[in-house]
Amino acid sequence: MTARITSVAGRQLWDSRGRPTVEAEVTLESGVVGRAIAPAGASRGAHEAVDLRDGGDAFGGYGVGRAVSAIGVEISPAIMGMDAREQGAVDAALCKLDGTTNKARLGANAVVAVSMAVLHAAAADARMPLWRYLAEGRSVRIPLPEIQIFGGGAHAGRRTDVQDFMIMCPRAGSFRRALEITDDVYRAAGRLMEEKGPLTGVADEGGWWPNFSSNEDALDTLTRAIEAGGHRAGEDVFISLDIAANELGDSSGYNLALDDRRMSGEEMGARIIEWTKNYPILSVEDPAGQDDWATMAAVTAAVGDHVQIIGDDVLVTNAKRVEDAHAADACNAALIKVNQVGTVTEAKAALDAAVVHGWGAIVSARSGESEDVTIAHLATGWDAGQLKVGSFTRSERMAKWNEMLRIEEAMGSDAVFAGTSAFAAPIAQALA
Ligand code: PGA
Ligand code: ZN
Repeated sequence: MTARITSVAGRQLWDSRGRPTVEAEVTLESGVVGRAIAPAGASRGAHEAVDLRDGGDAFGGYGVGRAVSAIGVEISPAIMGMDAREQGAVDAALCKLDGTTNKARLGANAVVAVSMAVLHAAAADARMPLWRYLAEGRSVRIPLPEIQIFGGGAHAGRRTDVQDFMIMCPRAGSFRRALEITDDVYRAAGRLMEEKGPLTGVADEGGWWPNFSSNEDALDTLTRAIEAGGHRAGEDVFISLDIAANELGDSSGYNLALDDRRMSGEEMGARIIEWTKNYPILSVEDPAGQDDWATMAAVTAAVGDHVQIIGDDVLVTNAKRVEDAHAADACNAALIKVNQVGTVTEAKAALDAAVVHGWGAIVSARSGESEDVTIAHLATGWDAGQLKVGSFTRSERMAKWNEMLRIEEAMGSDAVFAGTSAFAAPIAQALA
């Protein structure tokens, strides 16, 4: 029995937004099967790998018929006979077959589903849970979660400018405890919003749909929710923001709808820096647009010794862009989304580049998700230190949190919660 790939099949499933997505199923000679489902972003960077969508009238243009057929017609024959344990070789074959710089021909949705399905098949062949297979015998930490309380930006009709209002509990001691604290804060936030006016349901990632008159109103309410939930803001529970500024503009200026004004990159940076002084903020993602390195660097220089500055759209899980960002001192942490680059191997290279420079690393979901829990295993097995999934409702989010509870339980007394060690050294020291 070997781990030789004997077939690769694709199928169309549906994601958490009710849009078509791609699942890949890889079968090995031993009969072992690995499966994975492609996620999909809404606030995407221009430098990302791109999904192949059918266009036209059906399914709002989001059909994946061509991506699914690329798996059966082209990808399956190309990687058939390869060893599933040779992830690097399989992913290199996928890149070569695609032939573009951004997976545009076969589709990043087809490629990422196959790449992750091969990984699952290899772990199943080794009779190991995926996180343990990836750890290769090293001790790895349980990641620190960042969990959304309010969703905004492109995930909530742009009701707030800021996309994600999240919390982090670096002193929780365990994943289980971090989720219990999150539950306190999430419920308290819902109660506070109810008092303010009609509750308007939840956004794309399950956070409360924002009902705020300003970005500061949301920050105030979140701070109050932490306290109302019975926790100390800035001690046990911190705020983490994803500005997703790429959606607001670029180095020529940013439009903040709630402020009804346009800001220069300098003003935008100054606003973010001011927020970090006025609120218990521990982490800020994409404070500037994807090519506005100057504003990214200004924010990092001002507060990066005690606030995590994460690059998402600016890095797009691309090792080369991580290197460029490091040379420019643009951030001190990297968001890692496998489908931003297309293959497991390339995503791991981006993570390694971040870790080499002493940065934080956060394995992340997309706003369009499914029951697929691969990212919980990647965050743990790769010892990334942090995991970002979305909010604390909706099963495509809870599936990942629940998988983390299973992993933590499986580690038993060996489980070490990353906690404050998840951050770049100066930030971890500031927290100590
Ligand atoms: P996306 O958003 O999945 O819609 O791109 C997530 C993020 O910006 O982190
Ligand atoms: Zn982001």
